Amino acid sequence: MPDQYHHKTARADFEFIDCKHEDQPFRAAFLEGMTADEKAIPCRYLYDERGSQLFDQICELPEYYPTRTETRILRDSARKIADLIGENAILIELGSGSSTKTRTLLNVLESPAAYIPIDISAEHLEASARSIAQDYPGLRVIAMCANYSGDYDLPDVDGRRVGFFPGSTIGNLTRDGARELLADWRKRLGPDSLMIIGVDLKKEKDQLEAAYDDAAGVTAEFITNILARANRELGADFDLSQFDYDSRYNEEAGRIEMRLRSTRDQTVEIGDKKIKLAKGEAIHVENSHKYAVDEFEKLARSAGYEPVACHTDPDRLFSLHILAT
Ligand code: AVI
Repeated sequence: MPDQYHHKTARADFEFIDCKHEDQPFRAAFLEGMTADEKAIPCRYLYDERGSQLFDQICELPEYYPTRTETRILRDSARKIADLIGENAILIELGSGSSTKTRTLLNVLESPAAYIPIDISAEHLEASARSIAQDYPGLRVIAMCANYSGDYDLPDVDGRRVGFFPGSTIGNLTRDGARELLADWRKRLGPDSLMIIGVDLKKEKDQLEAAYDDAAGVTAEFITNILARANRELGADFDLSQFDYDSRYNEEAGRIEMRLRSTRDQTVEIGDKKIKLAKGEAIHVENSHKYAVDEFEKLARSAGYEPVACHTDPDRLFSLHILAT
């Protein structure tokens, strides 16, 4: 067993590999961000239990088109994608969550060699790996509990490696961060592999801004939950009613920028630390980058890939890129 695998167990229905590396604790990351010149909290901390529930609700909102559009593209192009992949594929999903979109691919792949879901949440991972193993008897399922941007080798299984990174999660990274992640994965997947990646497209400002500031206020609650989490876990005393959610499309940077803005001068206590916020001061929480098709292909080339195909919906809201390593 390689050293990187802290813990490896074979369950009755699937294998489980724990490669979780200690991430920066929430407290340290939060305090570092809140004491910076421009206050910011890394968006990976949005996903505690409540945050994950709220994100699931976002995916169902009428204004939030990415999830259902990507599902439709996958469904419509699954056969073509399966032909490109061929037999004996090892499907490796980055940030697999509930593995819902994966089923569309597994349903059409010809004798896949294995499915390797990678996710940081052990509970989510176990539940979805078990459910896939039960629904696809004979498919080898190797669940890896890890950060998809971590440093580890993939299990040694014979077959063609196919990375699968849906949801436009790559948009939450900066453009340089996205290039770096793609380049790391190209190395990890090795030669003659494919990467299938969902990327949200640039479009009308109004449609983008509605998707990130829905009428029901779910996105505002999702972003504000990061302060509620600090209250729950760090003993902070944020008064959530004293912050406004502010999201806008920065056309020049090609991204939605999500911030919380203090509605008055205030001092917040986080344990023995006092943080001052001026009226109107912003805490940056998340960016969601959007790409034109050729722009993303250029980025992929700069990370060493060769774009093979790109599927979009008729309204060109979302794109699914197939890249060769
Ligand atoms: C997870 N990620 C792709 C979402 C997005 O669209 O950037 C996160 C999100 N934030 C607010 N709404 C959705």
